[in-house]
Amino acid sequence: MKKILVTGGAGFIGSNLILKLLRHPENSVVCLDNYNKENPQGVSGNKKYVLNIENPNFQYLEGDIRDAHLLENIKGIDIIVHLAAETGVRSSLDIPEHYVENNIVGTQRLLAFAKNQHITQFVFASSSSVYGENSELPWMENNELKPISPYASTKISGESLGRVYSHLYGIRFIALRLFTVYGPLQRADLAICKLFDALDHNKEFSVYGDGNDSRDYTYVDDVTDAFVSAIFYQKSNFEIINVGSGKAVRLNEVIKIAESISGKKITLKFTERQAGDVRITCAAISKAKQLLNYNPKNTLLDGLTKYNDWLKLQ
Ligand SMILES: NC(=O)c1ccc[n+]([C@@H]2O[C@H](COP(=O)([O-])OP(=O)(O)OC[C@H]3O[C@@H](n4cnc5c(N)ncnc54)[C@H](O)[C@@H]3O)[C@@H](O)[C@H]2O)c1
Repeated sequence: MKKILVTGGAGFIGSNLILKLLRHPENSVVCLDNYNKENPQGVSGNKKYVLNIENPNFQYLEGDIRDAHLLENIKGIDIIVHLAAETGVRSSLDIPEHYVENNIVGTQRLLAFAKNQHITQFVFASSSSVYGENSELPWMENNELKPISPYASTKISGESLGRVYSHLYGIRFIALRLFTVYGPLQRADLAICKLFDALDHNKEFSVYGDGNDSRDYTYVDDVTDAFVSAIFYQKSNFEIINVGSGKAVRLNEVIKIAESISGKKITLKFTERQAGDVRITCAAISKAKQLLNYNPKNTLLDGLTKYNDWLKLQ
């Protein structure tokens, strides 16, 4: 049996990942989450999902990844999946020190924990935002990084710390650069959630810019498949791997798809583009295909339809 520590496991991606991992009785999962109160945008409201899990192979610990004393008392871990972070690009411009403290110091503490407890597998949630203003699309893992937000720079630091600990202490470190993840249990501050909320409640939807900014949207079930592969990946000691759909879609197009799914017309309010936002993101996913056998199964229409079906059941 493998004992997997999932930090930030009460969040959006973490909850989905834990539910998937626990489908296999050979996995045991410890979720460590502080239910982040420092940054209200980061509070996903998903804690109830993990708290409701009744499975002898599951343990929920409420606590902070920076709490070295708490970490010392977590025993028997084989693999760390590090998702806990101050999330969101825009608020990182307002409170950059929180991002540095949580995302950089926090990642270092966990790597030190891995070193001290001889944990040899560490999977890190990095972000497409590290590519920033790089205009060579689709982005390959070895492209130059041109971050334009404090959030992005903390993710680069996390990858860099991982490289150092991997080199010095033989910890296998796999960073997954995630591209705009959406789906059930996602945070209320994410655009897709706001979009369906606006459609459902006949509210105005704010578009930052003219709606031509494009994102590589990735359905959460495809993302958690990539995490499961990375958890058991053994071939090399350090890898950085994009996890996206491989297609960039304009926000205007996403709005049209959402309208067709819901059968409603939305009222748009166009406002200024936000500092820190990039115009387009698009992943090259050949490395993920090759190393993780990654094969995203959900088109944007599939994923948004599933998300809308899930919303209807809430
Ligand atoms: N959602 C996306 O589109 C996306 C894209 C790129 C990267 N990522 C990364 O993936 C990871 C998970 O993202 P998410 O969307 O599930 O975010 P989320 O905000 O829903 O979940 C993050 C969780 O981490 C917890 N947390 C934060 N700081 C903590 C700390 N110091 N100690 C313990 N727990 C702490 C929060 O309480 C929250 O439950 C994050 O690292 C994020 O940066 C997400």
